[in-house]
Amino acid sequence: MQKLIVKGKKFLSGSISISGSKNATLPILAASLLCKKVKITNIPLVKDVFTMIELLSSIGLNIKINKNENSLKISNFKRRLNTIAPYNLVKTMRAGVLVLGPLLAKFKKAKVSLPGGCAIGSRPVDLHLFALKKMGAKIKIKNGYIHASAKNGLIGANINFPKISVGATENAIIAAAHAKGKTTLWNCSIEPEVQDLIFFLNNLGCNIRLKKRNIVIVGMFEPKSISYEIMFDRIEAGTYLIASALAGKKISILKVKPSVIDTEIKILKKMGVKNTRKKNKIIIHKSNKINKTNIVTAPYPGFPTDLQAQMMVLMTKAQGISKIKENIFENRFMHVPELKRMGAKIKIKNNTAFIEGPCKLSGAEVMATDLRASVSLVLAGLIAENKTVINRIYHLDRGYENLEKKLRKCKAVIQRL
Ligand code: EPZ
Repeated sequence: MQKLIVKGKKFLSGSISISGSKNATLPILAASLLCKKVKITNIPLVKDVFTMIELLSSIGLNIKINKNENSLKISNFKRRLNTIAPYNLVKTMRAGVLVLGPLLAKFKKAKVSLPGGCAIGSRPVDLHLFALKKMGAKIKIKNGYIHASAKNGLIGANINFPKISVGATENAIIAAAHAKGKTTLWNCSIEPEVQDLIFFLNNLGCNIRLKKRNIVIVGMFEPKSISYEIMFDRIEAGTYLIASALAGKKISILKVKPSVIDTEIKILKKMGVKNTRKKNKIIIHKSNKINKTNIVTAPYPGFPTDLQAQMMVLMTKAQGISKIKENIFENRFMHVPELKRMGAKIKIKNNTAFIEGPCKLSGAEVMATDLRASVSLVLAGLIAENKTVINRIYHLDRGYENLEKKLRKCKAVIQRL
């Protein structure tokens, strides 16, 4: 099994170019089930994207990847597709459930594996099913699969989500784009990735309007053949902003839209991280003193749960006790015992972590448990004494493109074994 070795205490400098967004690519690929022909550019070459491509190919889409260009061409001129999403693919990537909406809307039936458990929380899909039922779908769960049908197709509806969910919002938008009549979604996720999905569908010829947390979709459109560029990965950008604050002398984070990550930049500024915002880049300057702060994770534009673990590492350098309240997932502190093995002083009470700083971290052998927890261990390794050995790095490869290469370009000493 592959491991990463990180040698700590090296000042980083240079520039890091941010890849396309994993969490925008996945729903946009699922929505391509509504298309005849489409080109998608700026896709990140990460494991989860390849799993989605494998799933869509098994359904019957014709997909050609151009790895040199980070692009792919999708065509689908078949009348019938295989409307099954098998367990062996969905179990490795929960976003596989996003094919349920488009398959049901377009082919009036779908059999999609339930995603199953996840390290960071129970992560049910009841809100996805709630929305599709509102559009007239008949749904039953049997043998670990969602069996859905809509003999006469889906019909536009008024759907008020009891809780904000990124995935359920995305599934409902894609389904409603191919339903008869108008759908109004209330209390939606407005994550930038959801907005990128809306831009994609509107470019295809759909009619979707977003106002505050409400989305109006007029369904049934003739998809155009387009080329669409995926937005930048704001979580990857946030990860490298924090890496730069931790170990940077001067680092430029390129190919980003600073306004999209305004919340993160403001919090870093409050913590004493000097930065300069430009049109498509952010420069992080050397920060000598990090101020403590309190963070609560929340749906966008709140602080993203996907940066919680990385921010925790920065708080180990802060003066005093910082707090993080994790409000999105019930089990997202799996990185804490590993950081404590490196010498971090962290106490957990219910869904709040108390991080005491500044404290010196020392290199150790640690275990990755999920995508974002694993990258927080890399960041900890960058500032720890001696070397850190990170196991189970397949978690990292699910969502970070060329992580070692990008960090090595900034003079980090990091090696994959
Ligand atoms: C998306 O997951 C992201 N994944 C996650 O990123 C991210 O952490 C999460 O949104 C929150 O921002 C992708 O976009 C592929 P949710 P998703 O539905 O859609 C509960 C990463 O690291 N819920 O907004 O699964 C759920 O259990 C990943 O890249 C229900 O109760 O998140 C959670 O507590 C990890 N019923 C909360 O809502 C449902 O039907 C938010 O989940 C759906 C969700």
